[in-house]
Amino acid sequence: MFAATVYAQRRARLQAAGLSGLLLFVGNVDSPMNYHDNILPFVQDSSFRYFFGLNEPGLAGVIDADSGEATLFGNDPDVADIVWTGPLPSLAERAALAGLDRSNAYANLASTVAAARAAGRAVHYLAPYRGETLIEMGRLLDVHPAQVKDGFSTPLTHAVVALREIKGDEEIAEMEAALAVTRDMHVAAMRHAKPGVMEYEVVGEMEGIMRRRDWQLAYPSIFSRRGEVLHNHHHDNRLESGDLALNDTGCTSGGGYASDITRTFPVGGKFSPRQRELYNIVLDMQLAAIEAMKPGVRYLDVHKLSARLMVERMSTLGFFRGDANDIVESGAYAIAFPHGLGHQIGMDVHDMEGLGEDLVGYGEDTERSPLFGLGYLRLGKPLKQGMVVTVEPGMYFIPALIEAWAAEGRHSQYINYGKFREYRDFGGIRIEDNVLVTATGSRVLGAPIPKTVEEVEAAMAG
Ligand code: GLY
Ligand code: MN
Ligand code: MN
Repeated sequence: MFAATVYAQRRARLQAAGLSGLLLFVGNVDSPMNYHDNILPFVQDSSFRYFFGLNEPGLAGVIDADSGEATLFGNDPDVADIVWTGPLPSLAERAALAGLDRSNAYANLASTVAAARAAGRAVHYLAPYRGETLIEMGRLLDVHPAQVKDGFSTPLTHAVVALREIKGDEEIAEMEAALAVTRDMHVAAMRHAKPGVMEYEVVGEMEGIMRRRDWQLAYPSIFSRRGEVLHNHHHDNRLESGDLALNDTGCTSGGGYASDITRTFPVGGKFSPRQRELYNIVLDMQLAAIEAMKPGVRYLDVHKLSARLMVERMSTLGFFRGDANDIVESGAYAIAFPHGLGHQIGMDVHDMEGLGEDLVGYGEDTERSPLFGLGYLRLGKPLKQGMVVTVEPGMYFIPALIEAWAAEGRHSQYINYGKFREYRDFGGIRIEDNVLVTATGSRVLGAPIPKTVEEVEAAMAG
């Protein structure tokens, strides 16, 4: 947890956004794994944690936007709680950690909300994304849980996004701490991924590094020789010499900030000429994107720049034909790069997307594309100084996609399907870093993680 003043300042800045009424932040509760008392690892709601700091279940925060008073709602531990969970600070002590001098029993939250509404005051809240929160919000607002989302506050969402998307120095330091461990995890994967080893053995080695710090994953690890399956959470293949292994793994720091890193490397330790050729295209796509980033540049345009570079380079190898711009604008390029270039990252790996993807990643004169591929780009709007975004171009040979498009002749003036079929067993490549937008450009966060062909081969040999 940061110093109490950090949370007080964040709440003051939120209050300065000019909303009126109550701003209600309901924290997460424990979620059962398979029965009530057997729980999944606790993950706090990030907006609650951003403004109130506390990383425990069963809390809510209310900011009176008119008076500026903020109150923590929760319960003091009773003896039974202490028997099962050990000594806990009082509610008032926990409130003080977040810079609050007001706390109240959780049982009084519903009447506080009801009194505000009875007085004709607005109660602003963010869109809930968990079933438990929907039910609790339905109770607090006296509406059916299915209707809770209809009433979320767009102005509060905009105000929260405006604050959370600009990272402070203390947040960047947390993200770099997460990246230091993530680096060790990726290097460990490179060293353990020998021919004959099962994917889950490599995953166990990697995740152990994070668990030894009592940290959690930021998202389920993607580690597979079948890297063309974009969110491949299966780890049950045996690695074979000549495979490309794709490793998309990140962790959440003790302070609650995520990393999201992808590296792709050759099982056996040496890229084949064919792998090296395509790997270097993806690397250049990433480096060109990072170079193009600066405040005011739309991430949609950075995505297209990266895609165009891929098309130009793949055209010289015979995969595409025609004008590179047309191939990008038509969406034909997505046969090889069917996802977005990246997304914001912070407390959430896809930062704030629970608040509404388009409210976070679009607007500001930028609309989401309906095209297959580009439509998955979650961040299109102009970059701002202080944003942290992932830059994660990829190139994949997805047999089902190639055959589906070939069968309907989709974009056949641009795509050489015969050439794509020659690579149907190739797999996929993705290279992902977490990048801070600076005043004049960008900076890759964290200590460097082996990325060039030479660096990766050296790390695997080491
Ligand atoms: N790790 C998921 C992603 O890169 O978005
Ligand atoms: Mn990733
Ligand atoms: Mn990502």
